[in-house]
Amino acid sequence: MLKSAVRPFVRAARKIAARSQLRKLPGEGFPQNALPAATYLVSGRADDKAEEIADRIEAERNRISSFGSQKVDILYSPKPGSAGSTVTVDLRPSHGDIMQFSMEQVARTGKTRRWGLFMHLLAREHRSANILELGTCAGISGSYIGSSPHCRHLRTIEGSPALAELARSVLPLTVSNPTVINALFDDALDDILPTIEPIDFLFIDGHHEKIATIHYWQRIRPKLSDGAIVVFDDISWSQDMRDGWNELVRDRYFSHNMDFGTVGVCIHRKDGARPPRQWDLRTIAGVGKAVGNPHGWRN
Ligand SMILES: C[S@@+](CC[C@H](N)C(=O)[O-])C[C@H]1O[C@@H](n2cnc3c(N)ncnc32)[C@H](O)[C@@H]1O
Repeated sequence: MLKSAVRPFVRAARKIAARSQLRKLPGEGFPQNALPAATYLVSGRADDKAEEIADRIEAERNRISSFGSQKVDILYSPKPGSAGSTVTVDLRPSHGDIMQFSMEQVARTGKTRRWGLFMHLLAREHRSANILELGTCAGISGSYIGSSPHCRHLRTIEGSPALAELARSVLPLTVSNPTVINALFDDALDDILPTIEPIDFLFIDGHHEKIATIHYWQRIRPKLSDGAIVVFDDISWSQDMRDGWNELVRDRYFSHNMDFGTVGVCIHRKDGARPPRQWDLRTIAGVGKAVGNPHGWRN
């Protein structure tokens, strides 16, 4: 009883704290092109153009969900430690179990409207032209990022044939030049990295295991443009992913790292000249410091 009475005050206090942190960012050297996305997290409202795109993507999510209990294969993230303990670019980490998800689950697995719009605004303000995504699923996050008006080519990699096919029907509704590659991440990277033009926006959203995540980042890094945006999803999904994030934030090939709790956003610096600046933005994101414990893996 008391708890529910106090809740609105706690929420109001958090909003005030978030607004106050947001106001200070421009004077503190926060990356200019990430400011609209951070502002959106606090205001909850994007401009009409972005909201209109989100309406279209969410209608598609609802259509996918309407297939209900129909099942498709999905590659689940493997147990921490499954890729060993040393990161190398030659590593070929094994994916997790192949599970059967209902279409309702698939629709829910895609990034939410809030985080989708957040990434859309990041890509739009950064004017990202060449975008690469690891982990397509049904194409929801790819739709949000690739519908930025500056996107020239979205490549997205998915190991499940059924999901890749689904995404091939979803992405063209909002993205003008999408390519869905049905392969394991490393196999697809073997193919595309030798000839790919510099990548401006990289989203890693699959195979959520520390060593595998750092491996994919290190493997793709030489192909990133200077100032490219790198988004890591689910950095608080498990203690293992959180440990991975805590290692990534020290990487000198980033100029800035922004911890939004759910996602981590980094800016690539090609010369690796200095340690990055770190921003704890969990107050702005409205998320706490809790770290998940999927399947009791930590116990
Ligand atoms: C969390 S879902 C991606 C959600 C999607 N980015 C979105 O927000 O709409 C992760 C996806 O990555 C795929 N995946 C996981 N590990 C993989 C691997 N090693 N190679 C290829 N695909 C993989 C899974 O099948 C799954 O569809």
